[in-house]
Amino acid sequence: MDHYCVLGNPVAHSKSPAIHARFSELTGQAMVYSRQLAPLDGFAATLRAWIAGGGRGCNVTVPFKFEAFNLAGTASERAKLAQAANTLKFSGDRQLEADNTDGVGLVNDIQVNAGVSLAGRDILLLGAGGAAAGVLGPLLAARPRRLVVANRTHGKAVELVARHAAHPSLQQLLQKTELLAQAPQGLEGDFDVIINATASSLGGGEVPVDARVLKPGALAYDMMYGAAAQGFASWARSHGAVPRDGLGMLVEQAAESFLFWRGVRPPSTQVLQEMRKALA
Ligand code: ATR
Repeated sequence: MDHYCVLGNPVAHSKSPAIHARFSELTGQAMVYSRQLAPLDGFAATLRAWIAGGGRGCNVTVPFKFEAFNLAGTASERAKLAQAANTLKFSGDRQLEADNTDGVGLVNDIQVNAGVSLAGRDILLLGAGGAAAGVLGPLLAARPRRLVVANRTHGKAVELVARHAAHPSLQQLLQKTELLAQAPQGLEGDFDVIINATASSLGGGEVPVDARVLKPGALAYDMMYGAAAQGFASWARSHGAVPRDGLGMLVEQAAESFLFWRGVRPPSTQVLQEMRKALA
């Protein structure tokens, strides 16, 4: 049996063990997946102990994604763009490889599960923290017409956009996509898709942008799910948009991690449907 885990703090709430158990059942991959709580000042030590114990890989969640990226020997292009990793793989020679599957998970959930194509569309990304940084590269790869990043602290959005605009691997994509940082106050423009990557709903706060940004029927995507996504969803619904929570992103990022580790793509849409049924 190969061993994998999710490392985080807190980690007790994580649905990743259930998702990966179902993936391994459906694909016939012999693996065990558990939760590991790392002390806030002890991520590297917990990771080293996990590797020494024979672990083959792990997912990394809040607040260790940046540390995970910095500890890795090699990293995928999308992890480099995010400067954060949610997936680590340990090979036989103890090399630590980092990937970030959050963005591709989001894009797959929107395009495949929700059936909304992003090519040629106008996208608004709210937030410029770790969650937003993890998805900006893969959103650009979906070739939207316009991608605006809006954040309460404007400087952080400017910095995130500048980092992507200067990145050699994105130069060709950026010939077709207008990538901008704009202040959320007074922001207008009909966006086809708006993505909430802020932590505003966690504190029960208001949606940090005016509803004028929503095109009628726009997709309003919250990276949160469950109770934390309720406020944003009702705001979207009351302004004629179609809300979607982040459960599909969670399942799809897990599927990409599974693929990175095992070379097999699990039936993620089926697992998402099963989870939605179980939660309903
Ligand atoms: P994460 O890794 O989850 O993205 P983070 O890096 O702390 O966490 O970023 C949180 C994001 O939510 C930031 O974009 C933050 O805005 P600031 O950069 O201005 O701090 C945003 N955020 C948090 N609370 C918010 C609120 N009440 N209103 C608007 N934006 C908020």
